[in-house]
Amino acid sequence: MTSRLTPAIILRAVRIWSGLFLLAFVTSHLTNLSFGLISIDAMDAARPYLSGVWTGQITGTLLFVSLLSHFFLGLWAIYVRPTLRTNTQDIVQLLTGVLVVPLLATHAIGISMAANAGLNLGYADTVRLFWLGAPTIGLLQVVMLSVVWVHGCAGLFTWLRSKENAGRLLYWLYLLAVIVPVVALLGYAEAGREMLIAGQNGGELAQNPAMPENVTVPFAQIRQITNIVIIGSIVLAALTLAARLVRLTLQKTQEVVLVRDGGPQMVSTSALSMLDGFQRNDQPHANLCAGRGRCGTCAVRIVKSDFPLPSPSEMELRTLYRVGAPEGARLACQLKPAGGRVEVLAIYPADYTFEDARPSDAPSATGAPA
Ligand code: FES
Repeated sequence: MTSRLTPAIILRAVRIWSGLFLLAFVTSHLTNLSFGLISIDAMDAARPYLSGVWTGQITGTLLFVSLLSHFFLGLWAIYVRPTLRTNTQDIVQLLTGVLVVPLLATHAIGISMAANAGLNLGYADTVRLFWLGAPTIGLLQVVMLSVVWVHGCAGLFTWLRSKENAGRLLYWLYLLAVIVPVVALLGYAEAGREMLIAGQNGGELAQNPAMPENVTVPFAQIRQITNIVIIGSIVLAALTLAARLVRLTLQKTQEVVLVRDGGPQMVSTSALSMLDGFQRNDQPHANLCAGRGRCGTCAVRIVKSDFPLPSPSEMELRTLYRVGAPEGARLACQLKPAGGRVEVLAIYPADYTFEDARPSDAPSATGAPA
């Protein structure tokens, strides 16, 4: 098996790693918030090691690059998708993905521009601002973190489900996916309560922060830039959907008839992958990575095809090789028959998961797992 790096393989890696980087950013922020269960002082003590590490020049640049590349690759994925008919988790990931940039940009731009101007707010100042000064913005931060968290977890789980050895890790991560945001929100609420009590008692925490001398925060500029980013990202998402619609309208397609495991005929088109064709006909088919070409569980053995089938891409070959698929097998999620009748045998049962797999479940040369 040769290992040639193609643009598709590189873009897929960039999408995964930029997503993981962004998820690490959100996780560290949520973890920092959870220190509010102890006290606001504890949040500030943990800040340099959690939230603070993201304001450095290298981490800040990486964060910015990750955000941009993840956003544009997400738009590209929407543009090239032959159909938006997919599973619920995928739909949630798509919808939250469109919201991530406008929501996260507001936070990231505000914090970094204020920091560049020399204003380094501690948690006492931030909690005071979000609980006493501008509760609407505080609520927006909570929404932002929740949306980004849901999007990140959906992406992480889809990615890990395509890995054969991630079974046990997934159980822990499902647990953490619930615990981390809940504890963070409790910490945020407790910090707010501490601030409100301090306010009632006229305590030090409730006093307005004195703006350091010689520090002028360009609030108008921050607002202007965040507005441009929010409107720009919404316009780009709308343009992507419009371009996709035009592409699909102009596309010339042929009818494809699919027959799987000697079952009923399924009518599809050459614009759709074989997996899309199965799903369009309400025929369940294994697809642990939701058609991203990573898991190999949608693999089929070609029995007969009226027309020559398009050659597999390097990415498809890699996945087939990794899962030990039999000679001549193809990934149903990547294969788009050009037309005519195609008969195939499914290699994995429709409800197959790697957690169910035992050593004897490896795909056999004749097709189905033993
Ligand atoms: S659905 Fe995962 S490789 Fe096709």
